Amino acid sequence: MNVKIKTQSEIENYRETGQIAAEILTTLIDHVVVGVSTYELAKIAEDLIVNKYDAIASCIGQYDFEYALCSSVNNVICHGVPSKQEILKDGDIVNLDITVKKHGLISDTSRMYIVGNASSKAKDICKISQECLYKGIEQVKPGNTLGDIGFAVHKHATRNGYSIVREFCGHGVGAEMHEEPQVLHWGKKGKGMKLVEGMTFTIEPMLNEGSRKVKMLEDDWTAVTEDGKLSAQWEHTILVTKNGYEILTLRKEEISKI
Ligand code: MF3
Ligand code: CO
Ligand code: CO
Repeated sequence: MNVKIKTQSEIENYRETGQIAAEILTTLIDHVVVGVSTYELAKIAEDLIVNKYDAIASCIGQYDFEYALCSSVNNVICHGVPSKQEILKDGDIVNLDITVKKHGLISDTSRMYIVGNASSKAKDICKISQECLYKGIEQVKPGNTLGDIGFAVHKHATRNGYSIVREFCGHGVGAEMHEEPQVLHWGKKGKGMKLVEGMTFTIEPMLNEGSRKVKMLEDDWTAVTEDGKLSAQWEHTILVTKNGYEILTLRKEEISKI
């Protein structure tokens, strides 16, 4: 398998790229309000990436995607396409997923946003999916395997009554958005590729309230839950370090959580 190990100078640059993406997700908090369209959110993200941070919005032009972020509302699992017609309303939950390229390296991160007052079940899936991401990250260290990550993520989801989507997964990330290996959100302890210092990949579990089954919409991008129930996802770009991990896209508001 062709897994690229990052050099020390690439890692220095990657920290900067990761922090740009992290700051943008934090900035977006103030913009995710009742009445905003997902198109407006994509344009705000694009403007920040390009003009404030002098970086590249690498989702634009990836395959045939046209926006700086994916916006996945309520029953949308991932890859929701921003739209002027999609206006956020009170109680919605939305995932915003951005990629930022700078110094030739791509960081890829997403979080959930709660619009106004959401139901307790909407808040719960947001909370548990974030915990699943952290459970996966805690497994990252040289010598552990991809199976250890998947096992930990899946266990935390199912013990809280959620299913894990299987059609999409985390991935190596670097010069390209999607590199090897695939990082599955289920697995067996001790199985799969061994983690090595200098690897960079995402962990990005998608949890469904009901069935794990996915339905694709006609735009060939938007993946929704087959049963119409809620879905939630969080994503970080992770570096394997000598003794563990570094979350390249860590946001300041998370430091107390992990
Ligand atoms: N950010 C997504 C991921 O986590 C991929 C976006 S696809 C794109 O892998 F086309 F929008 F770039
Ligand atoms: Co992403
Ligand atoms: Co990703």
